[in-house]
Amino acid sequence: MCLKFSGTDGLSNMECFTLSLLGLAILLLVLAFAKFMSASHDTFHKMGIDTPPTSLILGHFGLSVKFGVFKVQTEFYKMFKDKKVYGWYDTRTPILVIKDLDMVKEIMVKSFNHFIDRRVPMEHDLPFRDNLLTLRGSKWKHVRSTVSPTFSSGRIKKMSPHVERNAKKLMKHLQSKQESGEELELKELCGCFTLDVIASIAFGLEINALEDPDNKFSTEAKRITRPNLLLFALILFFPELGNIFSRLGLPIFPKSSMQYMANVIDAAIEERKRDGSEGKFNDFLDLVMSAEKEDGEAIKERLTRSEIHAQSIIFLFAGLDSVSTVMSFTLFLLAVHPECCKKAQAEVDEKIGKDFPNYENVQGLNYLEMCISEAIRMAPPGIFIDRQCVEAIDVQGVHIPKGMVVLIPVYAIHNDPDLWPEPEKFDPERFSSVNKESRHPYAFLPFGHGPRNCIGMRLAMLELKITIAAVLQRFSPISCSKTVFPFQLTKIQARAVDGAWVKIEGRQ
Ligand code: HEM
Repeated sequence: MCLKFSGTDGLSNMECFTLSLLGLAILLLVLAFAKFMSASHDTFHKMGIDTPPTSLILGHFGLSVKFGVFKVQTEFYKMFKDKKVYGWYDTRTPILVIKDLDMVKEIMVKSFNHFIDRRVPMEHDLPFRDNLLTLRGSKWKHVRSTVSPTFSSGRIKKMSPHVERNAKKLMKHLQSKQESGEELELKELCGCFTLDVIASIAFGLEINALEDPDNKFSTEAKRITRPNLLLFALILFFPELGNIFSRLGLPIFPKSSMQYMANVIDAAIEERKRDGSEGKFNDFLDLVMSAEKEDGEAIKERLTRSEIHAQSIIFLFAGLDSVSTVMSFTLFLLAVHPECCKKAQAEVDEKIGKDFPNYENVQGLNYLEMCISEAIRMAPPGIFIDRQCVEAIDVQGVHIPKGMVVLIPVYAIHNDPDLWPEPEKFDPERFSSVNKESRHPYAFLPFGHGPRNCIGMRLAMLELKITIAAVLQRFSPISCSKTVFPFQLTKIQARAVDGAWVKIEGRQ
């Protein structure tokens, strides 16, 4: 029977039939879509591994969108308290979450060859394509071994003057803020500072984002570090779309900004070659230039120009937000814990005196390092770490099939009360040598572990120590009217929802 609506004639039988057919087609499409999306949702059941309740289409992805990754990660981690692993469906992709720290160690180190790759949702275009973060297998090994010497202690020592020069500019900037009595949002401030440092080390540029945050380089760099989240989410749903978007010229990372960075690098390299200043800057560019492949040279040991572009851009991408996050949280947490701040200042006064912090004199700042570690524990920029299994293996009695993505829930591990009593409390003493000895060494993994750990770790720690020591020598960060503590992290990033607001006071 067809319904009659007031003011309209009744639908004919033919129209009714067409409408019913349309309804049926839509229903079938929805069912087919749901089946397609949930086709792999029995993977963990078959493996005998528990999962939290799953929604048909989104798997567990919808929960992350609704509650945020931090909350969801810690809740599920608690839910499977006594399990070594649990299953998670990132829309259609089954992901094995590893809770057991001995398993984490085996995956990252002992059986690394079975887990050499990361999950790569899409192939990127040049100049970003051949970057360390996403390269796989033997290509990754080649680039990593070529670039690694760039981050040796000796080379980092030579890069240190770039950090010191920019830290001195930051001190001037803070002096003016102290005099004006302005309240400061630390993430913004540290973001500009770390951009100045990385532009100087990776691109050979003096950009002064601190004083001129909207200059061309800063704008393009910000565009690179803020990917298109809509495209990213679509690719997560349908990984097949990644390469289609890329062919259509719709990359997650804006192509024009990538090209801008590649041009900046080319211009700097050509200028150095032209005026013979190659090798005199002691920055990343100098070091990779010496690794650039000349015609006829053995490919094994050298980088192509495109690989140099990709590594410089990935250093910007991986080293910018991470360092500014840790720097801003450390200073913020010291501001709201004045007793720790005083202790760190006393250490800086005793070990460095009036000298400006540098590569050598910050090595002895143990308490400051404990404060930085505690800040990274509470708000790790790398919320999780993943690996893809390239060859099936049994790890501590759990069978992991080829192709399975494994995920290490860094944030939840860093906030596990069995490993870190009262995890919400800022307590640098957790990192005293005695306390460190008594903990599982994989309970703290802000930089990952094993052959694929963070290549920039030592550079990041140096930058953090020099800069924070310089701040504490001259100023005390203190709470202000806009300070909100305890902080709440945003849904997808280790960033305080209400910002990290402080005031800067000069030291007597
Ligand atoms: C506090 C600052 C930083 C944190 C917390 C951090 C964290 C991480 C983490 C968790 C990983 C993944 C490790 C793994 O999978 O085991 C990583 C990888 C990486 N990081 Fe960092 N990072 C920081 C600074 C930097 C800096 C300054 C650079 C470059 C100048 C950098 C470059 C990279 C690169 C290239 C990789 C990929 C390494 C590979 O796959 O071979 N990071 N980082």
